[in-house]
Amino acid sequence: MKFYIIHEGFYEGVQARIDLLKSACVKMGLKVFCVDSLDFDYSKLPKLSKQDLLYNISSGSQTLVSLLLNDEVTTFYKKNPNLNLITSTTEWTIIHTKAKLPQPKTIFHLTKNRVILKAYIDFLGGFPLIIKSPGGSRGIGTIKIETWQNLISTVDYLVTTPDSFIMREFIHADYGARVIVLGNEVILSKKFYFQENDFRNAPILSATHYEPMEIDEPTKQLCIKAVHLANLEMAGVDLLFERETGKPYLLEINFPTGFQSFMDDPQPVLTKMIQHLINKANRYE
Ligand SMILES: Nc1ncnc2c1ncn2[C@@H]1O[C@H](COP(=O)(O)OP(=O)(O)O)[C@@H](O)[C@H]1O
Ligand SMILES: [Mg+2]
Repeated sequence: MKFYIIHEGFYEGVQARIDLLKSACVKMGLKVFCVDSLDFDYSKLPKLSKQDLLYNISSGSQTLVSLLLNDEVTTFYKKNPNLNLITSTTEWTIIHTKAKLPQPKTIFHLTKNRVILKAYIDFLGGFPLIIKSPGGSRGIGTIKIETWQNLISTVDYLVTTPDSFIMREFIHADYGARVIVLGNEVILSKKFYFQENDFRNAPILSATHYEPMEIDEPTKQLCIKAVHLANLEMAGVDLLFERETGKPYLLEINFPTGFQSFMDDPQPVLTKMIQHLINKANRYE
């Protein structure tokens, strides 16, 4: 059995992810092919079979992954799509909104129209509110807006950029959680606090801190549902727990997902993920 790790270049943390996954695969007797989609000969595309395990370990590589996907290859998708068109976790947020999962209220479009903006502020419950860019991670691109002038001066600029943004209700919380879903289970739940003088938990990678956390069954089911609705069997789920009520809010699901929340003990999590794919590849249909 072969494990194809796909990545697009190297942003911070990607090399460490590759090294960890590679060594876990080798320990489990798998042959590993690590493919950088920026530095790959597209005239020599392999045809992947059920015995090939495919995981795109970092953001990007949409085209290569689309080219490699077929009905056979073993992946973390429930059903392999023909194309991997997802470029931002916001697209899954649309699915979660339609399924009415508990999330911050969201407006999926940004405008500088003052009248419409006022209606959006009402819809989102007033200030503060969040503006979020599509492709960011670790909270970089997640912007907190506190006042009307802060909003209009930011929006007037953002609408001139090629990105599209969403606006979200601000959830007042003291902590959140990163949850890893695999199949029908939660295999990891870790609590995170916000970085010093920040409302975000991870903008400075080296200052990111997670601690073990028990989550209750309904919260687990929320995470599992959020992942399955996205046609996935594995993803990292971000939650915030509202300060007043303790109610969990789904922020987003991440696929691929970072390893930061289990860096203290990566082997058990990675072994479960790899074993899941091996079992799937060995299943007769
Ligand atoms: N609606 C919100 N209300 C309050 N804080 C938020 C909200 N959305 C995001 N955050 C903060 O920003 C962090 C990053 O947000 P997230 O949606 O997970 O974006 P990213 O894609 O960058 O990981 C969260 O961990 C949380 O601390
Ligand atoms: Mg996140």
